[in-house]
Amino acid sequence: MTQQLLVYVPPHPLIKHWLAVARDAATPSVLFRSAITELGRWLSYEAAREWLPTQNTVVNTPLAPCAATFIDPQVPVAVVPILRAGLGLLEGAQTVLPLAKVYHLGLVRNEETLEPSCYLNKLPEKFDPETRVLITDPMLATGGSIMTAMAELTQRGVDPTLTRIVCVVAAPPALQKLSAAYPGLTVYSAIIDETVNDQGFIVPGLGDAGDRIFGT
Ligand code: PRP
Repeated sequence: MTQQLLVYVPPHPLIKHWLAVARDAATPSVLFRSAITELGRWLSYEAAREWLPTQNTVVNTPLAPCAATFIDPQVPVAVVPILRAGLGLLEGAQTVLPLAKVYHLGLVRNEETLEPSCYLNKLPEKFDPETRVLITDPMLATGGSIMTAMAELTQRGVDPTLTRIVCVVAAPPALQKLSAAYPGLTVYSAIIDETVNDQGFIVPGLGDAGDRIFGT
């Protein structure tokens, strides 16, 4: 079977609600931050479905032995927030994946060329190939940043088919680049928007996520 990029937009009222709050230009920074945290929680919850490995066992209830399923503690799970804005989704992701290791990756786009450059890389030299990696970045616009992140991860042994990207707004240029380079990768987004403007902003989008999260 040919693999292809999977993009899920979970039809959940909580995701729609917090996206509406985040999109609204009148939302103050403190509430915007909460909205992004909530989106991180619910999108990570959706992403964990059929991705987080489990093991079957038997537990003894106070009354009888009973088949049970635990999260498999042997399989490594990692969250990779793309700084700065990806930090906004991290807290919510950690409520769903409390045992995950967190490896920070700092990327910033040049405002004119829109090319990303890396100013912080806390990735390990090598990942266990079984590692489940969840990348957080609210915006996939031209795709330069997420492609850089994917290149850094795959050259360290990360399997794209075991990788989930959690974002808030995804735009076609980024999805096209991911699709061409990483079939088998899965993206969870609150919405897919139509366009990216000349300044590299997704339209209608939600503005500059990093600036709105940190009030800058
Ligand atoms: C924004 C955003 C993404 C990236 C998306 O980050 O948070 O990381 O741009 O754009 P792209 O798909 O065109 O690469 P930015 O570089 O503004 O840094 P910040 O998170 O520190 O605000």
